[in-house]
Amino acid sequence: MSQKVRTAVIPAAGLGTRFLPASKAVPKEMLPIVDVPTIQLVVEEAAAAGIEQVVVVNGRNKSAIEDHFDHAYELENILESRGKSEMVAELRKIANIAQIVSVRQKQALGLGHAIACAHPAVGDEPVAILLADDLFDGGENPGIGQLIKAYGECGGAGVVAVMEVPEGQEHKYGIVDGELDERGFWKVTGLVEKPAPGTAPSRLAIIGRYVLPPEIWPALETTKTGHGGGIQLTDAMVSLIDGPGLYAIPIEGNRYDAGDKIGFLHANLAFALKRDDLREPLLALMKKMLDEA
Ligand code: UTP
Repeated sequence: MSQKVRTAVIPAAGLGTRFLPASKAVPKEMLPIVDVPTIQLVVEEAAAAGIEQVVVVNGRNKSAIEDHFDHAYELENILESRGKSEMVAELRKIANIAQIVSVRQKQALGLGHAIACAHPAVGDEPVAILLADDLFDGGENPGIGQLIKAYGECGGAGVVAVMEVPEGQEHKYGIVDGELDERGFWKVTGLVEKPAPGTAPSRLAIIGRYVLPPEIWPALETTKTGHGGGIQLTDAMVSLIDGPGLYAIPIEGNRYDAGDKIGFLHANLAFALKRDDLREPLLALMKKMLDEA
């Protein structure tokens, strides 16, 4: 029987080297998709899936994220005095999306280390993990909600979201080896973080959504430095395979790799095209640019 998943962790303490210089003084999780920071989109996804508390793991420049999810009284007062009450309401809503707890990763020692920093705030409970540079547009069906549901059906085993990546792209991801069951879930038998080209056991790539059982906490404590010199979450998850088990779940929706420049631009265009105020002028601009290119 699986415990209720109450808490999500969003790690935001990476160096964000692919987005320098933009990420020099601002965490890359604050970079906007049109006018909304990526971290707000994932906090909204977690809240839509029924998560009660979100633990954000901050690194350098932590105040930007904390301030974003706090009230901004001075700004609100100025906007109010200018008659911009709709904008004020919009800003106030951000401070109330979810209960946000902030913890610190003092050094960027890897994703697994960042998650371990959230342990005291989460407690010995299962945890949902969302990477803010992986964006999901699941419509009415938030990506992490699909995983929380699957977690409830897997008897205490961990679940990770996967998608099939094109051949030759496997070395960019954590790759799963497994057997497909009658529900369409893959029972994971092996995991490898960013396999060398030509060595991947499958094309099933782990993407940034996980729901892991409490057994992940002691596993993280003993995980040694792995790929790229960091403490990797994937390595800690390997120990779940012989314990409570691990399933890879193909989830529905559009996914954007916003940690990569082209993926980030793609996400911006896709989210803008969904907005009534932007769709027509953006399409016109895109057509003009294509004609000129
Ligand atoms: P990434 O590898 O995508 O982020 O980590 P990065 O290292 O910040 O980016 P690049 O590759 O240098 O451009 C995935 C997520 O894990 C967080 C990152 O903030 C990102 O959301 N992370 C990574 C941490 O919180 N701490 C770490 O030590 C490493």
